[in-house]
This record gives sequence, C-alpha cells and structure tokens, in this order.
Amino acid sequence: MCLLKVTGLTKTFKNKKDRVYALKGIDFSIKQGECLGLVGESGCGKSTAAEIIARLIKEDSGTIEFNGAYITSEKRLKCVGRDLQMVFQNPKDSFDPKYSLLESVMMGADSYRIYSKIELIKRAKELIKYVGLKESYMYKGIGGLSGGECQKASIARALICSPKLIIFDEATSALDVSVQAQIIDIMRRLKEEKGVSFLFITHDLALTSSICDNIAVMYSGRIVEYGKCRDVLCNPKHPYTKQLVSSVLPVNRRCDIPEFNALRDTQYAPKGCDYYAFCPNADEKCFKNVLHMFQIEGRSVLCCHADD
Ligand SMILES: Nc1ncnc2c1ncn2[C@@H]1O[C@H](COP(=O)(O)OP(=O)(O)OP(=O)(O)O)[C@@H](O)[C@H]1O
Ligand SMILES: [Mg+2]
Repeated sequence: MCLLKVTGLTKTFKNKKDRVYALKGIDFSIKQGECLGLVGESGCGKSTAAEIIARLIKEDSGTIEFNGAYITSEKRLKCVGRDLQMVFQNPKDSFDPKYSLLESVMMGADSYRIYSKIELIKRAKELIKYVGLKESYMYKGIGGLSGGECQKASIARALICSPKLIIFDEATSALDVSVQAQIIDIMRRLKEEKGVSFLFITHDLALTSSICDNIAVMYSGRIVEYGKCRDVLCNPKHPYTKQLVSSVLPVNRRCDIPEFNALRDTQYAPKGCDYYAFCPNADEKCFKNVLHMFQIEGRSVLCCHADD
C-alpha cells in the first residue's frame, strides 16, 4: 500500500532581492515498511521537501497524499497528526534540558491523549530500552546525555505515538560511525517488526545503500534519478548521480550558450537541465528541450541523453 505520495511539489522562497526556486516540481512515493533515501548536494531542496511533508512550511503547489488522504488542505494537521514524525540533525535543540529522559520521551504523546498516565510511563520506558538507552538514565536530565544518546531519545519520542512514517533529516550525520550503525539497526528493526516507513535524508551514500529500498537523487530543486537503491547506486544513469557515486567533484564547464547563462544568472531555469553547466554530455538539446523523466533500466532519469 502506498503510504505517502508526493506529486508536483513546488516551493519558492522570496528574499529581498531575488527568488530561490527550492523545489521545481518533485514526485515520489513511499510504501508501507519502505525506506526512501533522499540525497543530493547542499541546498538542493531536501529539507524543504521534508518540512512541507511534515507541514512545518507550506508548499506553493503540488499534492501530498498520506495514508489515503490529501494533506495539502487546511485540515492537514488533523490528517497527519501522530502518524508522521520527524527526527532532526541536532536533537539537543529539540529538547528542553530541564526535563528527564523519561519525561522528554513522554512529551511526544502530549498533544494526542492516547494513553493513560500509567500506560504512557510504561510505553516510554519500553521505548527507551528499545532504542538501546540504559535504564539507569530514565530520570537523568536530558541535557546530560551525549549527542548519540540524545538522538536515540528523539527516536524514542518520535515512536511513542506509533507513527507510520518517520522523516530523518540528516539525523545520523553528526554521529560517529558506531552510533550511526546502531541507529540504522533500530530503523531496520522498526521496518521489519512494525512496518514503519522512512524518508531518510542524507549525504551519505553508504548509509543510504545499507538501509534504503529506493533512492531519489535531487539536484537544484528537481529529482534527477529515482529508482531501486541498488540499481541507481550500482549503475547510475544521470551524470549527476554518476558524479555523486564516484565522488569526483565536477568541473564547471564554460557555458557556450549565452541564453543559458542569462537564465542561470536570474536563478531561473524553467525549461533546460539544471546540471547543464557541469555535464560532460551537455549539448543544445539539454538546454532547449522541455525536461521530462525517461524510464530506463527500471528507474526514472531526468536526462535526455540517459539512453544514448
Ligand atoms: N526560509 C528560507 N528562506 C529563503 N531561502 C530558503 C529558506 N529555506 C531554504 N531556502 C533556500 O532553499 C534552497 C533549498 O534549501 P534546503 O534547506 O531545502 O536544502 P537542503 O537540500 O536541505 O540542503 P542541506 O543539505 O545543506 O541541508 C536553498 O537554496 C536555501 O538557501
Ligand atoms: Mg537540509
């Protein structure tokens, strides 16, 4: 069953001087018990997409279907509620240090009134153990926990309402590799034992391949390649994905089409390929053709040279 379906999502931020086209129309979906990795360079729009889905900011256009209902309407909070939770990069910022670990985890259920007080304490204690935190920490101040322990606490807090989807926005990037591995293990257990779905935002392709079923590669507000993780990472088709996988920094080609440069200067590229300036295969076709996804070898690729 499709739990989350995002269609044609766009978002523009208006600064004093100019506009930032943060999302230029992205589509993806996540089934129950599935993990989608969202990867791409800094500033390509990953957090904007996550924040719109988690109804922290509003989209310009597009639709989000979650658990069988559209959540773009004014009733979005009611539609999503406890079923969708988000875990952020810096967990310490999202906790009030004056509360204990147990109280902090219990707070995840505050607005929903789904448990009696006794049930809530029991559930919070179970989850603290589930994420691998020591029982002796229950009454310890949350401010005294390490970064990795705090991230586990924020996962426990997200889990207290038994969500169907958890968004991890760079939630493992500040942690050392052993804690990262423990968190990936928690995610795997949640997928397998409880059918929880994940949107996993990261810069780390190795982590993506170890936990994600599918991957969406973003570049400049668009998804440029989307498919099964092993297909895309083992045999990338879009030039940007190839560059990402090989970790070779792109060289900024001299653009020889003046109209293209003029459009880039205004940060407005409604038609042509955004990766044009870096792409070794680029020609006039890339700039002049209307962009659309090509279906090739089991994935979607936003590149008119994908099957050359
Ligand atoms: N509130 C805002 N006001 C103006 N511009 C914004 C705002 N939020 C995001 N942006 C811009 O939108 C674009 C997408 O930002 P976003 O935070 O979604 O990128 P990201 O892919 O999450 O990057 P990172 O990997 O660094 O977290 C960037 O150019 C960013 O500067
Ligand atoms: Mg971000």
